[in-house]
Amino acid sequence: MRSDRIRMGLIGCGGISRAHRDGYLALSDQVQVAATCDTQLELAEERRIELEADRAYRDYRDILDRKDIDAVDIMLPHDLHKEVTIAAAQAGKHILCEKPIASDETSAREMIEAANNAGVLLMIAYCERYGNAHQEMKRLVESGAVGDPFLLRIDHSQWVHMPAGHWINDPSKLGGGVVAGSGTHRLDLLRWFGGEVRRVAARFLHTGLTPLGGEDTAVISVEFAGGAIGEMVCTWSAQRAPWYETLMVHGSRGVVHNLDGVKISRNGGDFEGVSLSHDDPYGFREEIRHFLSCVRSGETPLTNGNEALKTLRLVNKVYEAANSECWIEVTNE
Ligand SMILES: NC(=O)c1ccc[n+]([C@@H]2O[C@H](COP(=O)([O-])OP(=O)(O)OC[C@H]3O[C@@H](n4cnc5c(N)ncnc54)[C@H](O)[C@@H]3O)[C@@H](O)[C@H]2O)c1
Repeated sequence: MRSDRIRMGLIGCGGISRAHRDGYLALSDQVQVAATCDTQLELAEERRIELEADRAYRDYRDILDRKDIDAVDIMLPHDLHKEVTIAAAQAGKHILCEKPIASDETSAREMIEAANNAGVLLMIAYCERYGNAHQEMKRLVESGAVGDPFLLRIDHSQWVHMPAGHWINDPSKLGGGVVAGSGTHRLDLLRWFGGEVRRVAARFLHTGLTPLGGEDTAVISVEFAGGAIGEMVCTWSAQRAPWYETLMVHGSRGVVHNLDGVKISRNGGDFEGVSLSHDDPYGFREEIRHFLSCVRSGETPLTNGNEALKTLRLVNKVYEAANSECWIEVTNE
């Protein structure tokens, strides 16, 4: 690396790039966004101006050709993650790629292999692991504060109504519906808190309330290899509901939740508020901080390609379970 700041290129400057932009601005002592790219050039130009990058491009290969760029942040529709990640790895760029890694395991493996072969870092942006509530809840659970977890409850409720023709409405680009879109975050968190999943069952609904082509609502049951059980409820058809996400972990000695701030009850006592160690609720800034730190140190990211592959495998088993209406075994080999 040539300068003390890591030089990034942004590929895809749509909705989520605004959240990443705020992370880059907050970490400007460590990172410089050098270039931006979007097939809608006006969006690339918007991010270029905000981040004081020097060029905005329409073709991502122009970013990959630049020798002064160390790493890329890929924020594209899911069906493009593979092509651009492999090209970025071959160009020697470290890669932060939005979730999910891909929609099929073969593509995910090829992406991991390309990064390994090139000796570059691949991190998937499962930002929720880096948010302040989840970080603190994980610390509490790991420290044994609630004993052995036996029940995990997680949900996601949102109104996602994109115009007809948007890629999110097309299951072949999204990889499904709400489960492939936001559910992947929540299933990733279930794995992070509960360990590997042994089997799953799922029921999906397509209400037709939005133009979404895939399922917009899902109820999922999981059994963890360690014996605990869990449930996940998610919908992108929560009309007028505020967007909310919750997690509750019941253990043998207590319960921790984030229904209204992080609260813990130990041994049947009253719920107590827990103070959080940083002020980033959604984790976008902290995931970028982690990525930059891993690029500098060579440390493997928390949400590396193999972790993301395991979450993808679980997501795909959920689809298999919903289609078959059976309990489906999950194996990780
Ligand atoms: N972490 C989160 O909470 C979260 C939330 C929303 C989206 N995401 C993820 O971010 C990614 C992008 O989602 P989004 O909501 O920003 O979508 P979006 O449609 O708002 O933005 C995608 C952008 O990619 C551009 N694009 C498409 N093809 C391109 C190409 N070949 N080269 C360059 N640019 C191209 C489009 O013009 C568009 O501006 C997805 O992986 C999605 O799952 C994550």
